[in-house]
Amino acid sequence: MSKMKQGASKYIPFQQIELPDRQWPARVIDKAPVWCSVDLRDGNQALVDPMNMEEKLAFFHTLCDMGFKEIEVGFPSASETEYEICRELIEGGHIPDDVTIQVLVQARPHLIQKTFQAIRGAKNVIVHFYNSTSTLQRKVVFKKDMAGVIQIAVEGAKLIRELTDQYEGDCNIRYEYSPESFSGTEMDNAVDICAAVLDALGATAENKVILNLPNTVEMCTPNTFADQVEYFIRHLPGRERAIISVHPHNDRGTGVAATELALLAGAERVEGTLFGNGERTGNLDIVATGLNMYTQGVDPELDLSDIPALREMYERCTRMHVHERHPYAGELVFTAFSGSHQDAINKGTAYMQTSGTGKWEIPYLPIDPADVGRQYEPIIRINSQSGKGGAAFVMQHAFGLTLPKEMHPEFGAMVKAKCDRLGRELSNEELLQVFEDGYVHIPQKYALGEYAFSGASSADGSIRFTGVIRADGEERQVSGKGNGPIDAFFSALHKAGIDGYQFVNYHEHAVSAGADSQAIAYIQLKKPDGKSIFGVGRDHSINVASVKGVLCAINRAEMES
Ligand code: KIV
Ligand code: ZN
Repeated sequence: MSKMKQGASKYIPFQQIELPDRQWPARVIDKAPVWCSVDLRDGNQALVDPMNMEEKLAFFHTLCDMGFKEIEVGFPSASETEYEICRELIEGGHIPDDVTIQVLVQARPHLIQKTFQAIRGAKNVIVHFYNSTSTLQRKVVFKKDMAGVIQIAVEGAKLIRELTDQYEGDCNIRYEYSPESFSGTEMDNAVDICAAVLDALGATAENKVILNLPNTVEMCTPNTFADQVEYFIRHLPGRERAIISVHPHNDRGTGVAATELALLAGAERVEGTLFGNGERTGNLDIVATGLNMYTQGVDPELDLSDIPALREMYERCTRMHVHERHPYAGELVFTAFSGSHQDAINKGTAYMQTSGTGKWEIPYLPIDPADVGRQYEPIIRINSQSGKGGAAFVMQHAFGLTLPKEMHPEFGAMVKAKCDRLGRELSNEELLQVFEDGYVHIPQKYALGEYAFSGASSADGSIRFTGVIRADGEERQVSGKGNGPIDAFFSALHKAGIDGYQFVNYHEHAVSAGADSQAIAYIQLKKPDGKSIFGVGRDHSINVASVKGVLCAINRAEMES
């Protein structure tokens, strides 16, 4: 038996929903849902380094500018930092009058109390409480039956209602309840617990409660999730008392599809994050979902017209990276590499100019890049409009040189300058020439004479560099010790009076030309003025390649000064 066949037998297939007269397949999405961003809570919770106050505020302001009216700002009872961020948002006057902040809390009394303290003074708040209802969690985690789980939710709901009654001040408090792991819960149990919560909260058609149905772990195909949502809505007593929200995750990579089908199934509200940040494989990507609607002629009711700016803010605040192929947002998604695609796009563009209908009819481009602040970038975009990623792509694919990401802006600027000078696109060979001129054929203010490394096997593991450095034609014999070749070389440079440079980072890889295999090192230094500069060194020995890279960076810096 094959390994995969054998392995597959340990998994339990997802239970299908009995819903023979399902209605959702025949529907279309014709309006935007209410969007709720959970970037500052679910997204933040999943970061290696959670956002600090400044980053959260910057993110919050961007979300407001984009038009989000509901923003989950955190889990204020979970930590002091979360609490303080909530307080700063309120006390610092950061929340526009038409924006409702949402705070998450488990259905546990002391946490609910603390959450109510955190929201003092806010104008519009959604108190979002949850407990897990899934079959598996009940079995292996809580060891509780469904009645016990319902009791937790109902007691949480009653306390929330009481605290709302006692709340002093003028605040529009709304409620949201999530049966966490909804999609892993028997549907009738999900219906029962939500109905009990609606009763306990006193929900009415005038005072609706948000019932949020999380696909906490995506475990089934999107059609099954849609069946669950439709089943839930059809069986919920007093459905008009609820706003049905979904909170999809993306474990199977189908978070967007599951959301779209859930909307067909009757969901009215969607929780997600920008670019799908979030636990494990992430939350639903609101940007992609919104733009999918847009390309079907539906106003997403969010401003998604400047994706590069959103991406920049997102990458800065979360320290995450938007993948090059990420729908609508990736560096390469508006680039056509294939000649036939380029040709079809050019013909489509010409057709649109003559047809005069104003309708977007260009093959291979499902959206007008200009609508999201981008441009169509034919071939490998080595022109003055090129993104830095294109030049790096050619360097890698045409010449086997993998420039580190941090080096792309520096090299991209050289390429752009050359294109501007020539006023045209560059060929691959010309691109390589830009690289050689920028990093190889440069004035050698400092050069390396005879040298050697020794001591790799010394007791303290240190390495010594001994050699000759020529500075402006004058030779200096120097030596230095360090915990590696670069460190040892730096210490020798100091002794030769070449200082003010700091080592930042280094990347290396092998390059082979026929039987001749060499190493290439990319060295990033900090110049005396604090700015970054790269050097490149190539040699049969990786140690020597690194040392050459350091000298290259210094020589380049000296050229500028
Ligand atoms: O994914 C999830 O189930 C959640 C809930 C707390 C809403 O994030
Ligand atoms: Zn979640």
